[in-house]
Amino acid sequence: MDWKVRFVNYPEQFRKMEREILGTVREVLSRGDLMLRGQLRDFEAHIATFVGTRFAIGVSNCTDGLHLALRAAGIGAEDEVITVAHSFVATAAAIHHAGASPVLVDIGDDHNIDVDGIASAITSRTRAIVPVHLNGRLCEMGRLMAIARERGLIVIEDSAQALGGAFEGRRGGSFGLAGCFSFYPAKLLGAFGDGGVVTTDDEELAAKLRSLRDHGRLPDGEISGWSFNCRLDNLQAALLDLKLARVPDWIERRRALAALYHDRLSGVPQLRPPPPPVTAGPFFDVFQNYEIEAVDRDRLVERLRARGVEILIPWGGRGIHQFKALGLTHHHLPRTDQLFRGVLMLPLHAELEDRDVGYVSDVIREFYV
Ligand SMILES: Cc1ncc(COP(=O)(O)O)c(C=O)c1O
Repeated sequence: MDWKVRFVNYPEQFRKMEREILGTVREVLSRGDLMLRGQLRDFEAHIATFVGTRFAIGVSNCTDGLHLALRAAGIGAEDEVITVAHSFVATAAAIHHAGASPVLVDIGDDHNIDVDGIASAITSRTRAIVPVHLNGRLCEMGRLMAIARERGLIVIEDSAQALGGAFEGRRGGSFGLAGCFSFYPAKLLGAFGDGGVVTTDDEELAAKLRSLRDHGRLPDGEISGWSFNCRLDNLQAALLDLKLARVPDWIERRRALAALYHDRLSGVPQLRPPPPPVTAGPFFDVFQNYEIEAVDRDRLVERLRARGVEILIPWGGRGIHQFKALGLTHHHLPRTDQLFRGVLMLPLHAELEDRDVGYVSDVIREFYV
């Protein structure tokens, strides 16, 4: 289909950065710097500074980052880890692969974990919470960290969708023992393939993660234990480092587009758009996605697609607890179920023009008159 407004626009981003990207590829390839080299270390230092942690460890993707961070934190068999069903299956998969059981809590109106629901999900086996900062908005980290401290629980942040997002001036990925980021191409900072990073202030955890991502190898050649190959390619790291410098501008552009959507859509009673970007208040949202709830969602999506607007229904319209094969269907999550009946995501990316937002909003307004 020839979309009039695309959900993401990889070719346009490449066009804008073509010279620098090809220059970086040439430099890395001509030096033969392919695995665990200086470009990876530079990127790790820069992203740690950006997030506000002492260390960052490049990994193959965010799923592996979550999995390794949970293992490095000592979470495994018999343990329960609290998280949400309004996330990509990867969040729960990482918990499962660490040997633990995911316990799912309902969401609040911000579409993130309902912090009030956490206490009643804690059992004698609970070891950790994995809050998911979805769509570029952080969870209520003040109250969540207070519960974790009180109950002695480890926090590993799923920050896959929240690079640059902040709560009370502090960036996602810097609250818990570790934060895990995704550089899947559609993410705010996207690689040319898969990529991820784990951030932490804990020196010992950082050393464990460096070993775990590289077959358990230690700097002296010893093997720390059975492990995996989850390295971030050096070429991807060099390209991510190049793009990282653009991230503040891209965030500003996303926030401007979100404000525009909000202006155009907030008067439509059949819609529930996210809060607009604000400068006052605890939340600094980066709008990885513009996720809305809509009455008569399926017909609205049909109309938008027919008018050339590429729309995504997150994860096909199902939460993690709704996929039978995962064995998590016993969770009772009414707010999450309600959300999935009406949720859709509108195009929002740094290459979008103001007129595209105008067009999408007009199609939606016309649908409801
Ligand atoms: C909330 C969330 N968690 C985890 C992941 C997994 O990230 P990756 O694809 O880098 O493994 C994603 C990616 O889409 C995500 O959106």
